[in-house]
Amino acid sequence: MVGFQKSAVVVLVSLIISLSINHSEQIQSSQGQTLIRIQHLLNNPSVLSTWNSSTDFCSLDPTSSVSVVCYQDTITQLHIIGNKGRSLLPRNFSMESFVTTLVSLPTLKVLTLSSLGLWGSLPGKIARLSYLEILNISSNFLYDTIPGELSSLSTLQSLALDDNMFAGELPHWLGSLPVLSVLSLRKNMFNGTLPDSLSNLENLRVLSLSHNYFRGEVPDFSRLTNLQVLDLEDNDFGTEFPQLGNKLVTLILSKNKFRDGLPTEISSYYQLERLDLSNNNFVGPFPLCLLALPSVTYLNVGSNKFTGMLFENQSCSGELKFVDLSFNLLTGHLPKCLHSKKTVISDGNCLETGDDQSQKPVSFCRNEALAVGVIPHMKNREGRSSKAAIIALGVIGGVVGGIALVTLIFLLVRKVSASKEIKKYPTRLILEDASTGYPSKLLQDARYISQTIRLGALGLPAYRSFSLEEIEEATNNFESSAFVGESSQGQMYKGKLKDGSYVAIICLKMKRSYSTQTFMHHIELISKLRHKHLASALGHCFECYLDDSSVSRIFLIFEHVSNGNLRSWVSERHSRQKLNWTQRLAAAIGVAKGMQFLHTGIVPGVYANYLKITDVQLDQNLVAKISSYNLPLLAEITGQVGRMTSSAGSKNPARFVQTNQEAKADVYDFGIILLEIIVGRPLESRNEVDAVKDQLQAAIASDAATRRSMVDQAVQRGSSIQSVKTTMEICMRCLNKNPGDRPSVEDVLWNLQFAAQSQSAEVSPSSPAQFN
Ligand SMILES: *[C@@H]1O[C@H](CO)[C@@H](O)[C@H](O)[C@H]1NC(C)=O
Ligand SMILES: *[C@@H]1O[C@H](CO)[C@@H](O)[C@H](O)[C@H]1NC(C)=O
Ligand SMILES: *[C@@H]1O[C@H](CO)[C@@H](O)[C@H](O)[C@H]1NC(C)=O
Ligand SMILES: *[C@@H]1O[C@H](CO)[C@@H](O)[C@H](O)[C@H]1NC(C)=O
Ligand SMILES: *[C@@H]1O[C@H](CO)[C@@H](O)[C@H](O)[C@H]1NC(C)=O
Repeated sequence: MVGFQKSAVVVLVSLIISLSINHSEQIQSSQGQTLIRIQHLLNNPSVLSTWNSSTDFCSLDPTSSVSVVCYQDTITQLHIIGNKGRSLLPRNFSMESFVTTLVSLPTLKVLTLSSLGLWGSLPGKIARLSYLEILNISSNFLYDTIPGELSSLSTLQSLALDDNMFAGELPHWLGSLPVLSVLSLRKNMFNGTLPDSLSNLENLRVLSLSHNYFRGEVPDFSRLTNLQVLDLEDNDFGTEFPQLGNKLVTLILSKNKFRDGLPTEISSYYQLERLDLSNNNFVGPFPLCLLALPSVTYLNVGSNKFTGMLFENQSCSGELKFVDLSFNLLTGHLPKCLHSKKTVISDGNCLETGDDQSQKPVSFCRNEALAVGVIPHMKNREGRSSKAAIIALGVIGGVVGGIALVTLIFLLVRKVSASKEIKKYPTRLILEDASTGYPSKLLQDARYISQTIRLGALGLPAYRSFSLEEIEEATNNFESSAFVGESSQGQMYKGKLKDGSYVAIICLKMKRSYSTQTFMHHIELISKLRHKHLASALGHCFECYLDDSSVSRIFLIFEHVSNGNLRSWVSERHSRQKLNWTQRLAAAIGVAKGMQFLHTGIVPGVYANYLKITDVQLDQNLVAKISSYNLPLLAEITGQVGRMTSSAGSKNPARFVQTNQEAKADVYDFGIILLEIIVGRPLESRNEVDAVKDQLQAAIASDAATRRSMVDQAVQRGSSIQSVKTTMEICMRCLNKNPGDRPSVEDVLWNLQFAAQSQSAEVSPSSPAQFN
């Protein structure tokens, strides 16, 4: 690697200069004794066999294994490189006493102690070598963390700890070593995420972190304009392609968990010689420009999910010596320019090479490409979000509203007693199936595990990408009986997954050509629409055109709740047993919590949801779930610019006002739902709502008996006076004509919870209410 060669050259040059100046100088005898002691402590390695008490160290001829460099009277450089494969020093070796000896050479600037069998933790007192510029203690058996004392080495330019057993997380202070230009920590046991402070190391030329257990996103390195070598091989980094300057010469990201598409900037890496992206989950079109980067000699993108078509007349860089495109989803013909002399590996794609053995049928790549989906990254990049203004698009009417329709169609009227239901709760089973069915690779990823745990509470399988096959199977190949409804934006289907669970599938057809990349941000938002009181998002699927990998359709898969809508449980007389007052309050609290989540549980919040009682579904445990809400999607997708209702631009001062109004519109709609819950009869028109509201207003001002008479007769008996009063009052406030006078969602929730508490206190004083 270029970086290493350069630093080796620097060392060598300074070595020669120092030697010619100091050849005749006599070393101080105490320093000679220190070196002899070091020889002894190192158990007299063969590379030091020529050293004895009468050796003039400053005039020793340097060898590739050993050199001592002096300046005036003192030793400034010491290099001892033992034999590769050297085993541990004996048990009586002490790293502590070794370093104690070493620091009596306080003028050392360059220290290499490699392959010597050193073992133990690195004592912090090594920082007493306060002039150190280069420290290389690679290929030993040193363990524990990097001692914090090294942070005082303000002249340190190169730190190489490769091939040891160092562990723990990288300390934050590494980022404040002012002149650090080489940080090489390969083959250790470091873990955790990289400290963001690394992005302050403006002098950094080489960052080698391969073969460790690092994870998480790579910090923003775009300010590291001197960075030439970045080697992250064999860690758990990901998911986003790192942000880098364009001076890179070597970029190795292989064997990690990167799973985004490649940024377009990659075509500007004009100094890039070596690029290894192999064994990740990169998706999207393979950028043909990589073959033509001016300096590229080594290009490995094997074992990813790159799609797209190669062309025979594509041009390549003349420098190219090694190309590995194997095991992707590429179609077309191998470029002619790759035929001559170079090592080219292209197995496991769907290319037309004339060698059927090594290539798969085109249909394979097509199908796989269709299923290319990405679990979106959770961290937003600044700038990106402002670029892609997020539009909360009213996919209400036909499409999402259709979820409610689906639920009606699938209505499984099951009268089961509440206690039995809990044990048979079907989504529990789904969760178990889903989690045992995961490939172990997924489970290794801590994030998935934590996600699964979190979802345990939700009773849903993790958000994931679906394959087109799965969706075709679920809908019986989009059979007409699976079709639920249609709007200008797309269609709505009902479906049944292999595990037996029912889902609602929204299909959005693209009117223009976009890469899957374009939608990652929206998919990320949608993937967060998961809450106990929402019909939650389960996953998505991209269908892509084969030739350019652009997206043709997006499928969004939602939880399907099938135990009747809230109206059928509170105000339809003959359909089923009605909810009692306690249950009604629980349902109202559920809807309010779902609304609160939409407003504040995700960023940007989802407003203007046009909540309706018929769009609130109850599940088997009578948990209320909002099943129709405003889907955050890009207006461009559907070309419905006129219906955009909000954008993410936080700088817009009108934005807050608008958001607040939209929130208050949701509160009003909630008030109508609450009104119907109270009176227990369908309120279909605005007039009806206003009339009942006026009656209620009058009742509130009247006595307890009158108030109670307003409540649905079916539940009057079991309701507490205080509880009814509080509920009515908050309902009236929600229905206030002036949006500014309506309560906040939090206020609504507080009051309903108070009502629930008063109810349980009165009905069963011993058991406090549990409403979630
Ligand atoms: C370690 O023990 C060996 C003999 O077992 C002895 O020769 C050597 O000097 C000891 N080394 C140190 C550093 O004490
Ligand atoms: C020290 O080593 C030199 C050569 O490396 C040798 O000529 C000399 O005799 C040795 N002196 C002792 C005291 O062993
Ligand atoms: C550290 O020393 C070893 C042995 O000389 C060498 O191979 C390696 O390149 C050095 N590392 C750095 C980062 O200079
Ligand atoms: C990192 O490794 C250390 C020691 O090896 C361990 O105690 C710690 O829990 C690990 N941290 C993470 C985040 O895995
Ligand atoms: C409402 O129904 C639930 C479930 O059947 C029951 O536990 C509760 O006691 C009932 N509450 C009232 C006030 O009737």
